[in-house]
Amino acid sequence: MDIFEKNDKRTNYCGTVTKELLGKRVCVLGWAQKQRDLGSLIFIDLRDRSGIVQLAFDENTDRKIFDKAFTVRAEFVLCAKGIVRERATVNKNIPTGDVEIAVDEFKILGKAQTPPFEIVENSDVKADLRLKHRYLDLRRPDMQRNIIARSKIVNLTRNYFNENGFIDIETPNLIRPTPEGARDYLVPSRVHNGKFYALPQSPQIYKQLLMYSGFDRYIQIARCFRDEDLRADRQPEFTQIDMEISFTDEDEIIAINEGYIKYIFKNFMKQDLKTPFERITWRDAMDRFGSDKPDMRFGFELKELSDIVKNTEFKVFAGAIENGGSVRAINVKGGAKFSRKEIDSLTEVAKTYKAKGMAWLKMSNGEISSSYAKFLTDAENKAINEKMELCDGDLLLVIADKNKVVFDSLGALRCECAKRLGILKNDEFKFVWVTEFPLFEYSEEDGRYYAMHHPFTAPMDEDYGFIDTDPGKVRARAYDIVLNGTELGGGSIRIHTTEMQEHMFSILGIGKEDAQEKFGFLLEAFKYGVPPHGGLAYGLDRLVTLLLGLEDIRDVIAFPKVQNASELMSKCPSFANPDDLKELGIAVINTEEE
Ligand code: AMO
Repeated sequence: MDIFEKNDKRTNYCGTVTKELLGKRVCVLGWAQKQRDLGSLIFIDLRDRSGIVQLAFDENTDRKIFDKAFTVRAEFVLCAKGIVRERATVNKNIPTGDVEIAVDEFKILGKAQTPPFEIVENSDVKADLRLKHRYLDLRRPDMQRNIIARSKIVNLTRNYFNENGFIDIETPNLIRPTPEGARDYLVPSRVHNGKFYALPQSPQIYKQLLMYSGFDRYIQIARCFRDEDLRADRQPEFTQIDMEISFTDEDEIIAINEGYIKYIFKNFMKQDLKTPFERITWRDAMDRFGSDKPDMRFGFELKELSDIVKNTEFKVFAGAIENGGSVRAINVKGGAKFSRKEIDSLTEVAKTYKAKGMAWLKMSNGEISSSYAKFLTDAENKAINEKMELCDGDLLLVIADKNKVVFDSLGALRCECAKRLGILKNDEFKFVWVTEFPLFEYSEEDGRYYAMHHPFTAPMDEDYGFIDTDPGKVRARAYDIVLNGTELGGGSIRIHTTEMQEHMFSILGIGKEDAQEKFGFLLEAFKYGVPPHGGLAYGLDRLVTLLLGLEDIRDVIAFPKVQNASELMSKCPSFANPDDLKELGIAVINTEEE
């Protein structure tokens, strides 16, 4: 192997060696994409993060260099110097396609075995293999673009908030466990055996304390940790763009954040985005879209049919209403073309949301076929079809069940149908603010209320009166920003008085002593002058994923974890050294098989 020396510095990135450099001498550094041996000529495509350039070696120019080029295999690390010249056969597919470098100095800086997969764009290699060799996967041009795009978005984020008077402050990563919905990752303390830190689920409490300290406008690009079930849009560690403002209200926070999104679209997407974004209350979002994160790119809105069918003979519909539930439907425009088999598979989708079944009706070339029409009277059918504005080519999907099941399953069905009909476009961006969330969520299982957002969210003034008598009715000063059916960010106006915070804890079943033990420092801080404040946090990984038109947040995270929260490359988590555990005062009861 050759030695990398001081004057082997890159003059140009491979992808930038174009016609303007004709006749100039350049030095390029990178990985061999492929080598082609044409007898007395050898060509090597050299790749770096900017693209590819062709290196040309002529047997008759320099035998030693030619022989070295002959030994080069894919993924060798090379340094090549030479004059840029026109190519004999132009490759129109790449920006450097009409030039090549006639190499006159050449070094092999690193050799490589045949990689487990080819380093090419849009590889269809299995995810597990890609993740096991993530450093190779990250060499692929699409992954390089994603990671570089993320870096640009982070820089733009810092610029925007900096230009708007926000102060970047780091909060600790070893903190007290706080209840924020998900399970904490715990870190044992060596100095205090038996005691644990938690990794932060978000910087929530600290950013509030920074408001009490007078920093006024805070921003942090913060790493957060949540031990929860993973999905395509969830990772156990992820990054938030976390902001907070003092002396503020919902409108100001929304305006500043719309300004931010507009700024990112202008400078990154090169698009002018119209603001303000639509706002919809949580209640309307549920009633119209069956979801608190509605995809607004298409219709298929929910309509309630309970009034029409409440006295029907058809027990499935009437029974659901009698049990306190409802009957609702969506009209999937163009859905009549779905076959019986496809409709059956939609029923399976509904069942995953606990629906007992799914009723349907379709009109195709004037003919109606249906799973339920024969059980209803003509008048009932007519009223439903009128309410649903049934036209030729339409498919009605009806769910009769408990309200939660009705909303969840119809919410999912409308998205599934849109996907199957191919009407969703990744380059269409529909933002919406969802406001007035319920403050509490009741858990039937635990027989108690939980904070829907977190326990520091303020109730709406007009609902505060119900907090003791009917907590389920109280709306929160909380808002989410939703993009194309994904919750991009969420935030709220916070409680800033001791009385209200203590009241909130008591409704959440956190007794006085318990509250003192867990949040004593926060309650204590309230005593010394707390400004009204509020904020919001975005999921950075989700934002980048959606802007790039991708579906899996792992594609914008350099070293992500898989479904079962392990990292395939370094094989983490791993067993700890018994001596370390002893020092930490920890005995492990159950261990997974290695
Ligand atoms: P919330 O819990 O809604 O609010 O989180 C804010 C945003 O973070 C993103 N997010 C995630 N991204 C990837 N993987 C995950 N596991 C994950 N969990 C959440 C989402 C979400 O909208 N402290 C509050 C914010 C505030 O009130 O200011 C909070 O954390 O995009």
